[in-house]
Amino acid sequence: MKYHIVTYGCQMNVHESEKIAGILREKGYTEESDIDSADIIVFNTCCIRENAENHAFGNIGALKQRKRENKDLIIAVGGCMAQEEGKAALIKERFPFVDILFGTHNLSELGALIDRKKSQKKRVFSLKEAREETEDGITPVRTGYPGAWVNIMYGCNNFCSYCIVPYVRGRERSRRAEDIVREVESLAKEGYKEITLLGQNVNSYRGEDGTDFPALLDRCASVEGDFRLRFMTSHPKDFSAALVSVIKKHKKICNQIHLPVQSGSNRILSLMNRRYTREKYLEEIALLRREIPDCAVTTDIIVGFPTETEEEFQETLSLVNEADFSSAFMFIYSPRTGTKAAAMEGQIEASVSKDRLSRLIEAVNARTREKSAAYIGKTAEILCEGYDEKKNLYLGRDEYGRMGYFASGKNRIGEFVSLRIDRANGISLFGEPIGE
Ligand code: 5AD
Ligand code: SF4
Repeated sequence: MKYHIVTYGCQMNVHESEKIAGILREKGYTEESDIDSADIIVFNTCCIRENAENHAFGNIGALKQRKRENKDLIIAVGGCMAQEEGKAALIKERFPFVDILFGTHNLSELGALIDRKKSQKKRVFSLKEAREETEDGITPVRTGYPGAWVNIMYGCNNFCSYCIVPYVRGRERSRRAEDIVREVESLAKEGYKEITLLGQNVNSYRGEDGTDFPALLDRCASVEGDFRLRFMTSHPKDFSAALVSVIKKHKKICNQIHLPVQSGSNRILSLMNRRYTREKYLEEIALLRREIPDCAVTTDIIVGFPTETEEEFQETLSLVNEADFSSAFMFIYSPRTGTKAAAMEGQIEASVSKDRLSRLIEAVNARTREKSAAYIGKTAEILCEGYDEKKNLYLGRDEYGRMGYFASGKNRIGEFVSLRIDRANGISLFGEPIGE
């Protein structure tokens, strides 16, 4: 029996798919890379923007014929979309061939749901309002070697007005610090070289004994072993000098922070319920760079939030230049049913948002290109994480998150490699391994 998992969305979902794989393996399934040869197909969905949903709908719909030909095939849909209000009913109706539906709060039940489906020969829908248990008992099938993800918390309490995450992932729940540190220790022992602590808002982590995020990070970075530590995502409203000192204190913690700004306009930030101002954000970055001058800052930006004017968009453009981001994920605002922003007057026309997005991408890319050019002739230490079949080159990232490519006669995956950078193309760097 073979499984195939299709994952949409963020790293949280990628890691949860590893847990789904763990459950399936426990049940005797093995992985199948070809979707057409699998006995069970699991869609781990995302609903952060409309296009993520459309993607999943399209791919689920494409299985109708296969299910007709093979009645034993099991199709399961889980993740954020399943948890979204009204979507479960829609999936049930529109895709009568979906056998199992499970939400973000009961991922660990998947094994039991498969058994129920097999014994009752009926569709099984199981959604819970809130997470009753964590997934500590599941051994994930890790797919990111030399990288590994570790959940430190689930859910979000922030209710940014555009965002559906608090509705589909529920309130914040932190894992026990002791369990997290133990997981980091065992990953380090197993030879993972890059460990990323995951949470929707890691800065509001609170462990069982009051451990806050800087203290947790400090403990994780004190674990022995030859690995790098990253974390995401940080919320600017909870950013602290204590966090900066811990990053500075440990060589293991990458000098890179993902700090989503979303907009450069104070009026829009307030409408977004972000609870910081442009000035506060820039001060945080200034503090960070005073303490750690080479620290790379990456971000998320939304354009076309309801009522955003051209002038306010210009403020986002000017912030991009002031903040000197090394890269950014940029999105057109997508109204999500049930969120405050979706009900706001002044939704922006698609053509206006598209135009803003392309100007923003150009502004961010211009800085990225400048930063790439500055690498030429210098050395970058990358952690080799894979091989690009099209380019015929190995690839990996430096601590700032920059991708470097190189040729090698031997398999370097999982090794730290020093590259002499001789060429750059957009965000990608190309070089020669030193001493090879
Ligand atoms: N529309 C567009 N982008 C969104 N994001 C979250 N919700 C929306 C939405 N409704 C973006 C934010 C967030 C990132 C993960 O996704 O920038 O930081
Ligand atoms: Fe969404 Fe805001 Fe929570 Fe991030 S902090 S998940 S953007 S509500």
